[in-house]
Amino acid sequence: MVAAVRKLEPHDAAACDAIVAGLPEWFGNQQGIRDCAIAVRSHAGLVATDEIGVTGFLTWTQDRERGVAEITWMAVRADLRRHGIGRSLLGALIERLQEERVHRLDVKTLSERAAYAPYAETRDFYLANGFEPIAELDIWDEENPAVLMRRSL
Ligand SMILES: CC(C)(COP(=O)(O)OP(=O)(O)OC[C@H]1O[C@@H](n2cnc3c(N)ncnc32)[C@H](O)[C@@H]1OP(=O)(O)O)[C@@H](O)C(=O)NCCC(=O)NCCS
Repeated sequence: MVAAVRKLEPHDAAACDAIVAGLPEWFGNQQGIRDCAIAVRSHAGLVATDEIGVTGFLTWTQDRERGVAEITWMAVRADLRRHGIGRSLLGALIERLQEERVHRLDVKTLSERAAYAPYAETRDFYLANGFEPIAELDIWDEENPAVLMRRSL
């Protein structure tokens, strides 16, 4: 399925919060939930929609001088996961970034060192979409080791 994707608008923020609230296995950390709520109100973003409303979103930051970008948050409504919405969002982002001569896209997510099954699915999504693990990072707390994943555009 190819989802309709458009720019994230301020009025989409509450729908993004609701998607996050429906994914407690991925968004269990209160600070993370607050940071994501800030991101959907301040970062550049895209939303996927159906006839009813927002089905998924991603946000990103971009360093225009260096031509690099990083996905900051991404989520698809729990009952619609694995229907191609994440791929559509990512495809739309990549198209946009390529037009702006961005050559590298990063994302940080929970490392396999955490041995937490839900995030194995997240890493599988990024691996299936051309990202490679680049470095293990200890940038969050001890229970949340990070992995930096990267793809060139
Ligand atoms: C990760 C996430 C954004 C992916 O979006 P999605 O719409 O579910 O993914 P898609 O259906 O577009 O998947 C594209 C491909 O990625 C891979 N993939 C996606 N979900 C997968 C899973 N659960 N297990 C294994 N591979 C998976 C598959 O190769 C899939 O293609 P296929 O279904 O044709 O085999 C979404 O599942 C999600 O919101 N997860 C919870 C929150 C999260 O992890 N956010 C990212 C934090 S960094």
